[in-house]
Amino acid sequence: MIEVDQLTKRYGSLTAIEAVTFRVEPGEVLAFLGPNGAGKTTTMRILTGALPATSGHARVAGYDIDESPLEVKQRIGYLPETLPLYPEMTVTEYLRYVARIKGVARGGLRRSVDVAVERCALGQVRGRLIGNLSRGYRQRVGLAQALIHDPPVLILDEPTGGLDPKQIIEIRELIKTLAGAHTVILSTHILPEATAICQRVVIIHKGRVVAVDTPERLAAQLRGSEQVKIALRRPTEALRTAVAGLPGVLAVLPEAPAGAVRDDGATVWLIDCEQGRDVREAAARLIVGADGGLVELSAMAMSLEEVFLQLTTDAPARPDRLDDVPAAGLNDASPPRGSAQFAQQSKDTE
Ligand SMILES: Nc1ncnc2c1ncn2[C@@H]1O[C@H](COP(=O)(O)OP(=O)(O)OP(=O)(O)O)[C@@H](O)[C@H]1O
Ligand SMILES: [Mg+2]
Repeated sequence: MIEVDQLTKRYGSLTAIEAVTFRVEPGEVLAFLGPNGAGKTTTMRILTGALPATSGHARVAGYDIDESPLEVKQRIGYLPETLPLYPEMTVTEYLRYVARIKGVARGGLRRSVDVAVERCALGQVRGRLIGNLSRGYRQRVGLAQALIHDPPVLILDEPTGGLDPKQIIEIRELIKTLAGAHTVILSTHILPEATAICQRVVIIHKGRVVAVDTPERLAAQLRGSEQVKIALRRPTEALRTAVAGLPGVLAVLPEAPAGAVRDDGATVWLIDCEQGRDVREAAARLIVGADGGLVELSAMAMSLEEVFLQLTTDAPARPDRLDDVPAAGLNDASPPRGSAQFAQQSKDTE
């Protein structure tokens, strides 16, 4: 539905995005994650036709953004970072106005406005002046204007920005209901948001795509190995050696600080395992058999937050396997240091 190929945008000497490449499948919700200034808004504005790219191509719903800008605009609903609202209009007046601009036929205006009002739960405030609405309601009006012509593609720049936790949940629920019937790209700083409502994540850093995948797979790839946490009351060196000898176990590490005993009297071990190897059952059998006092056993997943920090800060990356990382945007010079292994990997495959 959306294909972005080597998009680059320069503002004078400043390169806002470089060789950004990714795809969004029909009906998918894709999160655009990146720190401030990463290039999220720039990419989104190029896709909507609001800004020309310096180089590269993109297709939306089968139309090239340069060759067929009108066709593209008709198929996109865009919620910009700064809401495009007129405070002196009522919600209904404004939505009618936007619907007309977006080419909704006169006979269909009332229905379009009603549907958008309904979907965005604006019924209570439809007669009120936009300037008098709370931030959350104004955000909903912003979403309603993006949806008004029922476009197949929605591009939402920080749709939950500036909202309180309750409003954030409401907007997320709304976006979830749009998935399937619409293809959605949204940008966010809130990592749990990406996990909660998006099937895939594009992480962008300093204008370059540093990772594209599902949140779960990103976490697994970056970790390179999987970890199991075990808490036991009667740890012995012999038991530790036995666990370390299980097939698929790479190492058994004490949780820092080493040797610390928890309030419940348990000591925690972290078992590093080969990727895709589930050693929980074998480890449990061994520990219970040796009367090790097993009180907890769980698989540790790397959170998206850890993935994000690893890719977008200068923390050293784990030099592990990264077989499945897409080459998109990774085969250029000087990626962020945190993802040096990506550059190495793509060089190897070139
Ligand atoms: N019109 C402009 N002129 C010059 N530089 C710009 C312009 N618009 C954006 N930039 C620069 O391009 C880079 C990317 O900005 P962009 O707004 O795309 O980032 P972002 O990822 O959306 O950040 P945020 O999370 O803060 O919204 C930044 O360095 C920004 O200063
Ligand atoms: Mg932005």
